[in-house]
Amino acid sequence: LAAGIAHEVGNPLAALVGFVQLLSNDRIPEAKKKEVHERLEKELNRIGEIIGRLLAYARPAREAVVAVDAAESARSAAELVRADRVFRTVDLELELDEKVMTVRAEPNALRQVLVNLLLNAAEAMEDLERGTVRVGLVARRRHALLYVEDSGPGIPSELRHEIFEPFFTTREVGKGTGLGLSVCHGLVRGWGGDIRLGTSSLGGARFEVELPFSGSGQETP
Ligand SMILES: Nc1ncnc2c1ncn2[C@@H]1O[C@H](COP(=O)(O)OP(=O)(O)O)[C@@H](O)[C@H]1O
Ligand SMILES: [Mg+2]
Repeated sequence: LAAGIAHEVGNPLAALVGFVQLLSNDRIPEAKKKEVHERLEKELNRIGEIIGRLLAYARPAREAVVAVDAAESARSAAELVRADRVFRTVDLELELDEKVMTVRAEPNALRQVLVNLLLNAAEAMEDLERGTVRVGLVARRRHALLYVEDSGPGIPSELRHEIFEPFFTTREVGKGTGLGLSVCHGLVRGWGGDIRLGTSSLGGARFEVELPFSGSGQETP
């Protein structure tokens, strides 16, 4: 993890040092200085974003773990991403078991986990003309199973474990931080659940989030 941080934050930092040196040179034309300023700001924002995500990854439970309506969480996550640019060419389907299922989780963080999975799915299909993403909920014996699957390229079997590692990304430099899935994984594990890969009936990737039903553990919400 430390090597990943050093790499992710180290690159923009090296750029910043270079920019500051450039700015201290009096012979640089104003237009060039403005450009350098803008890039400085961009790199600083990028470092800020990385640190913010790292904190989310490192810091356990900030909200209370309560009984959350799993279907409601899926619906609100879908509503949040529907308007996103990456969903313009994507059909978003909901497949939710009508039976009321409450799971033990932090409500905002659970929605964020689903938002992350939904955005990843749509991002994986950015180069395709059209795609389908489905978010669903089914009851298993001991837990609720929330899933997000897509019709994209899927995940090569040799990467099945790596994708959950912090900073692992196949997206181009500056686009992905590779923290999304590691944060999701950490959160879900913290609620006594798990995230794993399944087989998508749409031909692409399928992420399954298993969460214990509320009331199935010792704690009561
Ligand atoms: N639905 C998906 N289809 C294909 N690959 C995916 C999907 N979701 C995640 N991945 C792979 O997992 C990697 C890590 O995802 P993530 O941790 O969210 O980081 P990021 O989105 O910043 O790359 C992605 O770069 C991609 O290679
Ligand atoms: Mg992501």
